[in-house]
Amino acid sequence: MDANSSATASRPAKEVLAVQGLTVSFGERTVLDTLDLTMQASTITALIGPSGSGKSTLLSAILGLLRADAGSITICDEAMQAGNSASTARIRREHIGMVFQDGYLIDELTPVENIIVPALVAGVPAADAEERARAILAELGLTVQERATSSFSGGERQRIAIARALINSPQLLIADEPTGSLDPANRDRVMDTLMALPTQLGCAILLVTHDPVVAQRADHVMALADGKLTATVHQSGQAADR
Ligand SMILES: Nc1ncnc2c1ncn2[C@@H]1O[C@H](COP(=O)(O)OP(=O)(O)O)[C@@H](O)[C@H]1O
Ligand SMILES: [Mg+2]
Repeated sequence: MDANSSATASRPAKEVLAVQGLTVSFGERTVLDTLDLTMQASTITALIGPSGSGKSTLLSAILGLLRADAGSITICDEAMQAGNSASTARIRREHIGMVFQDGYLIDELTPVENIIVPALVAGVPAADAEERARAILAELGLTVQERATSSFSGGERQRIAIARALINSPQLLIADEPTGSLDPANRDRVMDTLMALPTQLGCAILLVTHDPVVAQRADHVMALADGKLTATVHQSGQAADR
């Protein structure tokens, strides 16, 4: 047993996310129906389900962007209330990083300039933020030149977006189809980057995906259908084989 795995085994499980009895309806339609989901630190959960099943709605509720009809959401032991309150924004900023399908990077800025934006918003001095950005890039094994982000490939851009999501040291990384626009080789590279994070940084990852190859690599796969989440069993049984 190497030092890494024994450290992981002895670390007490920390609950990063607890969703309890979450219900969200739009008009007549109940999209999320008394749904429960918990996530521990250093774990990866893939969320799958057909288009329109409510995956993005669940992420919006976790981010406090959408008011639920019932239920509670707890992030790192803090209650997430929907709305624009200072506490909602602070919980999001302090505990959650976000990666989207299309990156949403600013093309004209360099990678480091993109990565430090959330730190600057959080009030970190620019020099400190830049130092942290370079440390994260090194941690992710990314070498990026100081040129406009528009000149990087789709896979590189997604890994820059992941670095940006990590700049404020979130305990929960939420990724909505992060590989949805990538070819298989870049998808696998981005997944390699994501899969290493729980061990490297201790964060948990909630990953929405349509891609069975991506879902297979997660520790847990949850399928959303008819407002309910169901744990699905890995076909290969090799969830731990990252
Ligand atoms: N703000 C909204 N108002 C009304 N209906 C919505 C809203 N957001 C999502 N929906 C509906 O809720 C359902 C789930 O949507 P969504 O969470 O985007 O699904 P998914 O991300 O799984 O494709 C869809 O039928 C969608 O049309
Ligand atoms: Mg969606």
